Amino acid sequence: MSNNFIGTARAHSNIAFIKYWGNIDHKLRLPSNSSISMNLSDLYTTTRVEWSHAYQTDSLKINGEKSDDKALARVSEHLQRVRDRLGINMFANVESKNNFPMGTGIASSASSFAALTLAAVEAANKTLSERELSALARCGSGSASRSIPSGYAQWHFGTTHETSYAETFVEHDYWDLVDVIAIISREHKKTGSYAGHGTADTSILQSVRVDSAEKRLELVKDSIKQRDFVSFADVVEEDSNLMHSVMMTSRPPLFYWQPLSIEIMTSVRSWRENEGIQVCYTLDAGPNVHCICVRSDAEKVISKLEALSDTIEIRTSSAGRGSYIVENEY
Ligand code: DP6
Repeated sequence: MSNNFIGTARAHSNIAFIKYWGNIDHKLRLPSNSSISMNLSDLYTTTRVEWSHAYQTDSLKINGEKSDDKALARVSEHLQRVRDRLGINMFANVESKNNFPMGTGIASSASSFAALTLAAVEAANKTLSERELSALARCGSGSASRSIPSGYAQWHFGTTHETSYAETFVEHDYWDLVDVIAIISREHKKTGSYAGHGTADTSILQSVRVDSAEKRLELVKDSIKQRDFVSFADVVEEDSNLMHSVMMTSRPPLFYWQPLSIEIMTSVRSWRENEGIQVCYTLDAGPNVHCICVRSDAEKVISKLEALSDTIEIRTSSAGRGSYIVENEY
């Protein structure tokens, strides 16, 4: 087998400050609104792709184990997009590993599909622009588009495949924010993001959220630019609350918050307002709370979370770079 058909890439997970929830085109994952996130340097996926004329089908191993059919079908569907785009007709063997345990309730689809996209293109010995890689990764998982570019990344919603992609807003070292993730449940979510995006429009609040998203996005961008934590915190929490309000008023309703999530959210606000700790919260499609804070307050946030409940597991991450090719990983 020629080495030319093997490629390995790494991509980081990301946490959105303005959320992606709902699509105008479900199949292409063209989102209803633009979003912005920070890549997480300490949470990443490394993926090796090997294309071969000898393979009769695609195959997938995750963390050393043969994957289930559902995961393989989603990966294979994405590999087909790559085959179509690059004009190749080989099947692939994919091996992927996360540096964070699966089933911790920390999203892995963003890092997975970003790493898969880059590795598959690299393995085929082709080069695509960052913009094209981002748009391609988006088709596998919307949030993966934001894990291709470095640092704080904005995903432009776009009404066509070509115009819906993410790019760096500012580099990861522009503002030293830390994500202190309070993991309160490892349970697999009953309704995943894909199904949730599909029902977002059944909430009467979705149009209000979408119509006002651009304004919040500009506020978040301004506050990042100025490193203004007070303004940043207000908008980030509001956007998370709005997304969860849409979830809770969709048909069927989706309730991701648990009692402890709410306790943490209330505590975070009080730490900020009463003790001057620069921290705010945001939650994705799950009960775990991402406590975003400035580096100098990270230790305080960790010990305060530990004091709240001994059932909270904590994982932290700094802002990270974009996806990249790695050598000699497997
Ligand atoms: C709540 O990107 O996981 O985390 O496109 O179906 O893979 P799929 O959805 P996904 O949705 C992420 C939703 C979110 C908010 C966000 O990251 O912007």
